[in-house]
Amino acid sequence: METNAPKRRDNKKSLRVKVISLGNAEVGKSCIIKRYCEKRFVPKYLATIGIDYGVTKVQVRDREIKVNIFDMAGHPFFYEVRNEFYKDSQGVLLVYDVGLRESFDALDSWLGEMKQEMGSQANMDSIVFIVCANKVDLSKRRAVDEGEGRLWAESRGFHYFETSAQSGEGINEMFQSFFSSITDMCENGGKRPVAEVSVGFTKEQADTIRRIRNSKDSWDMLGVKPGATREEVNKAYRKLAVLLHPDKCVAPGSEDAFKAVVNARTSLLKNIK
Ligand code: GTP
Ligand code: MG
Repeated sequence: METNAPKRRDNKKSLRVKVISLGNAEVGKSCIIKRYCEKRFVPKYLATIGIDYGVTKVQVRDREIKVNIFDMAGHPFFYEVRNEFYKDSQGVLLVYDVGLRESFDALDSWLGEMKQEMGSQANMDSIVFIVCANKVDLSKRRAVDEGEGRLWAESRGFHYFETSAQSGEGINEMFQSFFSSITDMCENGGKRPVAEVSVGFTKEQADTIRRIRNSKDSWDMLGVKPGATREEVNKAYRKLAVLLHPDKCVAPGSEDAFKAVVNARTSLLKNIK
C-alpha cells in the first residue's frame, strides 16, 4: 500500500507536509488554526466556505517544516468542495466541541468520509491524527468528559488534547506534538511510529467501556435481553469482569465501567427469581 510520502526539497533538512482539519461546523477548527498562526481569537462565527488554505513554517529539532494547512468547512453543504482535499495528507486535526455530544459522535463519520474519499490510496497508518476536544473554557456546558474523549482517541492510536481557541489552552502543546509526530513519521519512512499506537489496552476494551457509558439500563449494560435468566446475567457479567477488571485493564474509565457492571448485575439479580 502507498504511503502519503511528504514532498522533500533539495535541502534534506526541510520537509513539506499537508495537514487538514475535520469536524462538524462551528466546533472551532478555524479558530484553533487562527489562534496558533495569528495568536488571536475571533468570537464571531464566520463559517468557512468550502476550504481555507494557509502556509506556516515551523522548526522541529534540526528540520524546517513547511506546513500547508487545508481548513475544511464542516457544513454538509460543502461536501462537494472538501472531498477533493483529503488525499496526500500527513496529518489530520479532528475537532469536536466538548459541549456538543453530537459533534463527538460525528468523529466516526468524519473518518468514514475521509476513508471513502481517499479510496484505494487510503492508508490511515501513514497519517498522524490529533483529536482536539475544543471549547474547554466553557466548562459549565461540558457534555463529553476527558475520559471518554481520550478513550476514543487513544484506542485508535490518535493523540488527544483538550483545547480552547478562546483562551489558548492546549493549542501550542497540541501543534508542537502534531508537527513533531509528523516529522517522526516522515523520518520513519512514512509510517506512524509503532510506540504511538501501543496504548496498553485493546480496542475491544475501549469499545466496551464506551458501550457501557452509553447504555440505557442495566440489561443493556450487561448486553443481555430484558427478562434474561440469572445464568445469562452471570455469564455476561463474568465476561465483562474479565475484560474490564482494573487489574487487567488500564484503559481510561475502566474502573468506573467495572463498578457500573458490578452494580448492574447486583440490581438485576435482586429482581430475578
Ligand atoms: P466551520 O468553518 O463552519 O466548519 O466551523 P469551524 O469549526 O471552523 O468553527 P469556527 O472556528 O469558525 O468557530 C465557531 C464558533 O465557535 C465561533 O463563534 C468561535 O468564536 C467559537 N469558538 C471556537 N473555538 C472556541 C473555544 O475554544 N471556546 C469558545 N468559547 N468558543 C470558541
Ligand atoms: Mg471554519
